Amino acid sequence: MPKSNSRVERENDDVCLAEDNVINRRTLFSAIAGMGVLAATGAAVQAQEDDGPAPGDILVNSKGGAVLTPADIDPTAKTVVIAYAQDAAGNVKKGNKNKIAVVKVDPANVGSESEGRGADGLMAYSAICTHAGCEVKSFLPDRGIMRCPCHGSEFDPANNGVVEKGPAKHRLASLVIAVEDDQIVIKEGFDAEVGAQS
Ligand code: FES
Repeated sequence: MPKSNSRVERENDDVCLAEDNVINRRTLFSAIAGMGVLAATGAAVQAQEDDGPAPGDILVNSKGGAVLTPADIDPTAKTVVIAYAQDAAGNVKKGNKNKIAVVKVDPANVGSESEGRGADGLMAYSAICTHAGCEVKSFLPDRGIMRCPCHGSEFDPANNGVVEKGPAKHRLASLVIAVEDDQIVIKEGFDAEVGAQS
């Protein structure tokens, strides 16, 4: 703002400058407060994503959020069901690393390492391929095998998600689940690293 010549004009200028300063300080404080709120919101979302599936959570469909029941998992389907964990307060734990692949295998084929981790052939694994992080979304019902469509890695859900065929080198992390009141309930969180691994 250019300076004026008369005393009255100069006094008016000083008042305006003072007001400008107050407004600028207010704007600055508002911006800082806003940044604080944004940071807090971002932290809350991040915390929710980092939480991961936990004991007591139930599985809900990642598409639409309906609570999954055992009848929703078709053992003849050619795709897995992708689920998220929902906690007791109704918060759904989203994010790539929280995606859960649910399949149903023949209970007679469940190996010793998977015993007690599923419920009548229902098994739940991290849906993220350990090779390069794609979604392991295909299911080969004839063989009871989960397949990653990106580079063809195969995992055995009846045997704790071990690699049946590479290029993946690491098995899928598994959850311990149980069926209670027709809901699929998590009893233990992931038992291994989730996501792409070298
Ligand atoms: S990302 Fe799954 S096989 Fe490569």
